Amino acid sequence: MSNFRELIKSTAALPFGGKSFRTERKLRQQLARFGKMLHSMGFVAATDGNLSVRLDEDRVLVTPTCFSKGMMCPEDMVVVDLHGKKLSGTYNPSSEIVMHLTIYRMRPDVGAVVHAHPCTATGFASAGIALDEPLCSEIVITLGAVPLAPYATTGTMELSDSLRPFIPYHDAILMANHGVVTYGEDLCQAYMRMEAVEHYAKIVMTTRQLGTARSLGGRELEKLFEVRSQYVKNGH
Ligand code: 13P
Repeated sequence: MSNFRELIKSTAALPFGGKSFRTERKLRQQLARFGKMLHSMGFVAATDGNLSVRLDEDRVLVTPTCFSKGMMCPEDMVVVDLHGKKLSGTYNPSSEIVMHLTIYRMRPDVGAVVHAHPCTATGFASAGIALDEPLCSEIVITLGAVPLAPYATTGTMELSDSLRPFIPYHDAILMANHGVVTYGEDLCQAYMRMEAVEHYAKIVMTTRQLGTARSLGGRELEKLFEVRSQYVKNGH
């Protein structure tokens, strides 16, 4: 297992290709669209979850607090600076904006952040179980491993501090007794990583129920990490 963790560290934060052209209007629409997808997939309920995207070097566009993320309009989004100060928007920014900004500060390659409470992955987070066993090849290629950050109160600096040790090496993190945060080059990639985490959590759950989990190891993992580097390069 320690071999697996070392391999993840060496291939995390692989540089992604060129930045796509972004307009504020398009990004507002994307936030509303991926918010709807989080809701329709059952990854959030009521006012759960939040999404954000970098507008430029100094500003971030984020979802409003206390909104159903399935019912947002493009004009509901809030513009903040890198200290979380609201620059424009009718509503207040997400209560988790500090967590989003911590990720942007620590990972210049990240262009978007998604936070949600998908049931199976959040179940693992609430049971204190990380999704870091290499049980199937796809997850090794796409996410590597999903660590578990210790519990901290939602919306506080302590929550950001609990994630800090994992942010440089992972693109998805379980937040103990809370949910999941994923990030990527753009909103689509950050959203798809959330889907991948929940899907993998379901696979791990099924494997555990069957009672005969067989982890990949040694040479199998090394080969998969070679495939992973190639897969990321080919996609951009
Ligand atoms: P916001 O509505 O403030 O973004 O908070 C939702 C949430 O999920 C907090 O963890």
